[in-house]
Amino acid sequence: MQTTALILAAGQGTRMRSSLVKVLHTLAGKPLIQYSLDVTTSLSSNKPVLVVGHGSDAVREVVGDAARFVYQEEQLGTANAVLTAEDLLAGESDLVLVTNADMPLLTRQTLTRLVQMQESNSGPITMLTLHSTNPRGFGRIIRGGNGDILAIVEEAQATPQQLLINELNAAVYCFRSDWLWENLHKINISPKGEYYLTDSVALAVQQGQTVQGLVLDDPSEAIGINTRTHLAEAEHILQGRINSGWMLAGVTMRDPSTVYVDASVTIGQDTVILPNTHLQGITIIGEGCILGPNSVITNSNIGDHCKIVSSMVEKAILEDHVEIGPFGHLRKGAYLSQGVHMGNFGEVKNSRLGARVKVGHFSYIGDAQIGDDVNIGAGTITCNFDGSKKHPTEIGAGAFIGSDTMLVAPVKIGERARTGAGSVVTHDVPPDCVVVGVPARPLEKNNK
Ligand code: UD1
Ligand code: CA
Repeated sequence: MQTTALILAAGQGTRMRSSLVKVLHTLAGKPLIQYSLDVTTSLSSNKPVLVVGHGSDAVREVVGDAARFVYQEEQLGTANAVLTAEDLLAGESDLVLVTNADMPLLTRQTLTRLVQMQESNSGPITMLTLHSTNPRGFGRIIRGGNGDILAIVEEAQATPQQLLINELNAAVYCFRSDWLWENLHKINISPKGEYYLTDSVALAVQQGQTVQGLVLDDPSEAIGINTRTHLAEAEHILQGRINSGWMLAGVTMRDPSTVYVDASVTIGQDTVILPNTHLQGITIIGEGCILGPNSVITNSNIGDHCKIVSSMVEKAILEDHVEIGPFGHLRKGAYLSQGVHMGNFGEVKNSRLGARVKVGHFSYIGDAQIGDDVNIGAGTITCNFDGSKKHPTEIGAGAFIGSDTMLVAPVKIGERARTGAGSVVTHDVPPDCVVVGVPARPLEKNNK
């Protein structure tokens, strides 16, 4: 049978108290909306359809062509939201899988089971429910004496008796589409002035049809994000899932509760992640690395057997066997070749460091190309900015830069050249030459 996924995302998310539309808030580095798209795309015979309203331009921009969009002008309720897709979807597929964009923890397995359950019964609706003693404002499931589902009652309309029911509506449904498009119009306005999709259940039952329920094994899958507290709760659960996944894949985490790994990160086997370490964005970590404690690595590519201690790494590339930290900072465009060692208080931006370069202590390297086996003395600075423009520095292979050298760019240091401690280099230095002083001059045998 053909199924089309329909994701409701038109609400503003008032309870988030945010200028950002709810579904663009992020979880493990990924916007909420992305989770429902990821999990439904493979189940949907056609491109999923997203009902947008509040903040629709921003949502469209983030989602791009991963979905089709319908626009709900006024937020008149979940049934009305589904109706906005009628023109697009009526007649397209046998089944319509409806889910909310604010439920990022739903798994593909659960949705697959829900669709299969609907495929194998003749009723018009199969819905997802959960048992929980924390009702979170969810609708309550009313069952008859024989256990059949009779209705969903929203919390605002529930009687004190009904409020005690601990089977809840997850708000994920698989509908037979002919039934859906024929009956959705019949849903009456609720006392709150909205058209509730949940009322479709009682409607079907009144017609003598059976509504099937699939009870979630893991109720945490149904966590919907309505507040920032829910967002943090979901983050915690998702982080647990992500970290367990990496540990099963051969990554050691001394204390996984303090390790934060975005959904978009990959980590090689036998890497050890120490507490309070954050791996963010599109980051690839090689095998056998030691990361942390207290490191943040964002949008970077780290080779095998690297060590990053208490450091910040952003948009950088490290080849194998690179060691940085403690207290290193790699910024955009830092490229550290095999075996580079960068000690405390080093900063590198938009620069390539050749193999085995050593930057032991307190240095700023910006807009520089550094050859293999160069030693950069403590306190060396590439003075790359003249107040209006950035300028490049080049250091040839095997050069030795003395402690506290100021390299006033643009400037080139030849291969195997040396600079004296405290020199201020304002002119290019030829290969094998030694310069000293302020401004730096070649050191001659019989210096005057
Ligand atoms: C809904 C269910 C409730 C269920 C809960 C689970 C209804 C009436 N209630 O309540 O039974 O237990 O989810 O999380 O369906 N939306 C639109 N257009 C609208 C209204 C809502 O697109 O006019 C979207 C929202 O953006 C959201 C989703 O539908 O993604 C659900 O709306 P929300 O207001 O969060 O419903 P709940 O109160 O959570
Ligand atoms: Ca909700």
